[in-house]
Amino acid sequence: MNEKERQLEKSWIANAEAWTQSVRQNQIESRKLATDQAVIDEIVSFNPRKVMDVGSGEGWLARALHSRGMEVVGIEGSGELVQVAQAAGGGSFHELSYADFCQKPAQFGTDFDLAVCNFSLLSEDISELLQALSTILTAHGVIVIHTLHPYNLAAEDRYEIGWREESFTGMGEGYKSAMPWYYRTMSAWLGELPKAGLELVRCTEPIHPRTGRPLSLLIIAKPQRDS
Ligand SMILES: C[S@@+](CC[C@H](N)C(=O)[O-])C[C@H]1O[C@@H](n2cnc3c(N)ncnc32)[C@H](O)[C@@H]1O
Repeated sequence: MNEKERQLEKSWIANAEAWTQSVRQNQIESRKLATDQAVIDEIVSFNPRKVMDVGSGEGWLARALHSRGMEVVGIEGSGELVQVAQAAGGGSFHELSYADFCQKPAQFGTDFDLAVCNFSLLSEDISELLQALSTILTAHGVIVIHTLHPYNLAAEDRYEIGWREESFTGMGEGYKSAMPWYYRTMSAWLGELPKAGLELVRCTEPIHPRTGRPLSLLIIAKPQRDS
């Protein structure tokens, strides 16, 4: 793990309380506008029985899926976020870094119909995690990746992969640490799939209802299987 990845994980420990408030008080505009509903609709379209929520944060998505009848297991690197998620219910949540998950992917079960990474693939190296997730899916299981749309940043910045920093401006109060995260262009995102032995099922781009600009990118992938 490089220094940026270490800082990335630590930032979620430092910012757990502020993040919980931002999510629970609806302070992230894009989520209210479109992206929360978009990821729920995408997941529901697969009618999954059992879902792994990867980087589950304070657990809002698990609760939303649980209320629609799904069994949800969350893994999350910040102990405080795991505690607040567990207290609110809706799934079983485990404090675990992605690196530790990759060591033993089946430790919280197998036969997942779907694994979702909702704005939680933030590192440079995501291939090992995606491969590990493939091993805990059912024969028809899929992986849902939801991320900031690459064009969202492209207006102000260079359209090239690399580390960026999130300062959480406009997302609420109390953030104690900036978060390094790895920016990917559209081709870089799609290129991650074959690297991890996955193939594209479909991708969608939730749009800002007023500006018409893309808010996020939803990539649905499945393990390459012999047909
Ligand atoms: C932007 S938050 C999203 C949380 C949640 N999925 C949601 O939609 O509100 C990213 C989450 O991914 C988790 N995460 C990122 N990298 C991680 C890693 N290497 N190991 C464990 N958790 C990680 C963070 O701790 C954080 O809770």
